[in-house]
Amino acid sequence: MEIKKVGVIGCGLMGAGIAQVSAAAGYEVVVCEVEQRFLDKGMASITSSLAKLVEKGKLSDTDRNSTLARLKGTTSLDDLASCNLIIEAIIENKKIKHETYIKLDQICPPETILASNTSSLSITELMAAVSPGRQQRFFGLHFFNPVPLMKLLEAVRTILSDETAYAAVCEFGKTIGKAVVQTRDSSGFIVNRLLVPYLLDAIRGFEEGIGSIEDIDKGMMLGCGHPMGPLTLLDFVGLDTTYYISEIMFEEFREKRFASPPLLKRMVLAGMNGRKSGRGFYDYSDPKNPKPMKLN
Ligand code: CAA
Ligand code: NAD
Repeated sequence: MEIKKVGVIGCGLMGAGIAQVSAAAGYEVVVCEVEQRFLDKGMASITSSLAKLVEKGKLSDTDRNSTLARLKGTTSLDDLASCNLIIEAIIENKKIKHETYIKLDQICPPETILASNTSSLSITELMAAVSPGRQQRFFGLHFFNPVPLMKLLEAVRTILSDETAYAAVCEFGKTIGKAVVQTRDSSGFIVNRLLVPYLLDAIRGFEEGIGSIEDIDKGMMLGCGHPMGPLTLLDFVGLDTTYYISEIMFEEFREKRFASPPLLKRMVLAGMNGRKSGRGFYDYSDPKNPKPMKLN
């Protein structure tokens, strides 16, 4: 069950990072997007991330060039047929993910391993879209944003998991430089089970007037040593993605702490998806100097 070639579906915030770290570790990588313009945007973010690493002396020029040479972009899922492992990192929506897996199931040979980078959907529910034989080789591989910098990878198994294939994906995680934690299939796995209620509570606190955007962020950075305050982190993760995650986790657990605060929904409806859309809790017109938004 040797993994040599990796497919990545989606080249947004997460897919771009997953494709980058896989190529940097020596794997041949094919990354698939829905449209050429999204692929171009994702590829540009990989080029810029690699440039940052070269600038900081963390990557040589030669390694940057060989990483880029191992990376191919496509808008056709058919080009993923020869990959040994395919990691899906598209929108957090079960229906759209299922449509993708149904196509992959037809394109890929039986031995291909499939994995989802989902933040909150059940892996067991996701794998229901593929043929019974392949369900044993369907896992969660949950990366963290920004993928090139965050050390953790959650490897999620289900009750049907093939142990040899699970060992192969855990080993893959180590070869791309991640610390792998093993977790069973429960919505949000380990990290989001704890992180998501905290982030949603920060929004609720802001709605209730406990402090300004900047003071809530400052509180958790300076008071608890977090690298980013919760409202900055929400912008970083994407408010749309956080909204989808909270809806899914609330549906799963029926607990108030996972419910989406009304302000989050209103911001997503207004297209304020955080840093990637230029506006969220902060305005990123000048990306080096974000300004808190006036939220009425
Ligand atoms: N690629 C390469 N290098 C990058 C980079 C990228 N994408 N982004 C930043 N860097 C580099 C910078 O160039 C900088 O390098 P030096 O330290 O050598 O100067 C370094 O990383 C630090 O960057 P910054 O100075 O810009 O900012 P920072 O010190 O605040 O660090 C951070 C950035 C690592 C993102 C840090 O703020 C952090 O750890 N934030 C918390 C992130 C977090 O919690 N992520 C998890 C989100 S939840 C999730 O992912 C799960 C889910 O399902 C929603
Ligand atoms: P994103 O919106 O930045 O990117 C998603 C990308 O997928 C877009 O570029 C979109 O064009 C593409 N896409 C949509 N449908 C597609 C399809 N059928 N085929 C190919 N590409 C398609 O989202 P993201 O933040 O990268 O999140 C992707 C997944 O990763 C989600 O499941 C999310 O929950 C999970 N995740 C997100 C974070 C985070 O911090 N943002 C962290 C861990 C996991």
